[in-house]
Amino acid sequence: MLFSSVIQQASEILKQGGLVGIPTETVYGLGADAKNPDALEKIFIAKGRPTDHPLIVHIAHPDQLTEWARDIPEVAWQLAKTFWPGPLTLILKKAPGVLDYITGHQDTVGIRIPNHPIALQLLQAFRGGIAAPSANKFGRISPTTAEAVREELGQSVDLILDGGPCQVGVESTILDVSSGDPRVLRPGMISSAQIEHIIGQLVVSVVSAGSAMRVSGCLESHYAPRTPVKIVSLQELVEYHQPGAVLLRHDIPLSSLLQKVNMPLGSAAYAHELYAVLRAYDKQNFACLLVEEVPKDAEWDAIRDRLQRASAVRFEQ
Ligand code: TXA
Ligand code: MG
Repeated sequence: MLFSSVIQQASEILKQGGLVGIPTETVYGLGADAKNPDALEKIFIAKGRPTDHPLIVHIAHPDQLTEWARDIPEVAWQLAKTFWPGPLTLILKKAPGVLDYITGHQDTVGIRIPNHPIALQLLQAFRGGIAAPSANKFGRISPTTAEAVREELGQSVDLILDGGPCQVGVESTILDVSSGDPRVLRPGMISSAQIEHIIGQLVVSVVSAGSAMRVSGCLESHYAPRTPVKIVSLQELVEYHQPGAVLLRHDIPLSSLLQKVNMPLGSAAYAHELYAVLRAYDKQNFACLLVEEVPKDAEWDAIRDRLQRASAVRFEQ
């Protein structure tokens, strides 16, 4: 197979406690052996991330769930069967022995099977759990290309596997099924409605920009470009006369001070492009990145969430 030697090399690096940039369908991950505390420590150092922020364990097959989690409810098995490999992370009660670096000292663990051929080949070759947060510096935009990983963390990774641009483009939906009613901790492109349809039960959303969860994805200062980001209605845009770039879904006449960036109309295509566009335009020293507000429909939840976080940070700092 074309990739086999580089996959073997990546697997060896993981076994020796190194870090590998891994393509997934959502965003690129910064992977390490989930059972090696020294390797996990390197992740936190590379990202500049506080060590009480838990990591997601990536596995190759649902059979491996019991190695990482205990008291797995039936809904978790149903969801795993339906959505894995795919952009859904399940929060479950942790199995004994799962390291504090993984759990952030909590009694739970986050697990998913990514849907990317390279990630899956690596997981099969490695034969263990791979802890992988998004491969960006803490608080910055997640990378959706190998080049962006190089930019963010090139100094700290031993190898970056180039799997092309990530198909989904925003991070996985995080669903807590560890106790009580299932709760969405981070919206992703698998919607609450899709989850409810499978489990026949309502799903609570505990996500709102500014919520006080101990989940790093829930800090407002996440997914942030350096350039100030502002979400604006079409009406406000028409009346806007200051310099900047604007991510537009509808082509409307604008002040010549504004540079138009055409964004797709549909949510899946929009999510696919969003981080790459933010990253590219963040480099161009615009005074401001304006974003035409996106629809309020559920299929835009993940995108609205990331845009709100990207825009929230400037008003905090
Ligand atoms: O799409 C994704 O999920 C990507 C790819 C690489 O798989 N990974 C990712 O990891 O976004 P990270 O670490 O950047 O974000 C994972 C989020 C963090 O906000 C973390 O706090 C939360 O998941 N998380 C992990 N384990 C948790 C747990 N046991 N309880 C609550 N939140 C947890
Ligand atoms: Mg992240």
